[in-house]
Amino acid sequence: MNTKNNYELRKSFLNLIIKKDYYKFLKNELKKYCQHGKTSTFKHCRDVAYTSYLMAKFFENRFNASLDTENLVDAAYMHDMFMYDWHEKATWHKLHGFTHPEVAKQNAIEFCHANEFEQSIIETHMWPLTLTKIPKSKEAWIVNLCDKYITISEVFH
Ligand SMILES: [Fe+2]
Ligand SMILES: [Fe+2]
Repeated sequence: MNTKNNYELRKSFLNLIIKKDYYKFLKNELKKYCQHGKTSTFKHCRDVAYTSYLMAKFFENRFNASLDTENLVDAAYMHDMFMYDWHEKATWHKLHGFTHPEVAKQNAIEFCHANEFEQSIIETHMWPLTLTKIPKSKEAWIVNLCDKYITISEVFH
């Protein structure tokens, strides 16, 4: 992908999210928490959202795939909206890896009015850890994969 394409993609991504009601809320809320290493949960969600967007655009352009990019980006932004510090010791979230997709989904409904398609993406983003919560859409698979890719790069940086 050349520089002009990168610039255009970044611009269209920003145009997509800037008009979202949830954006300011998520930014204020999720930057309070640390995700991995020095990365805040907000940065993690933003990176997952942008990487998912790039992958969706690649599939659209290369394979003529039909994808709901807007809901994909929304759900990726909300996918780790659990809103607590999972590094702190607390019995109620000691199974964080297994339980946080459901907590994030409930918060996404309460604070951002996530629709059912977005909810499904959020609750399946930790599969295969959450064994029965298998991604049900192409968009959910994209967010699931991009979350793993971004998490690995955060942990090893
Ligand atoms: Fe997560
Ligand atoms: Fe994540």
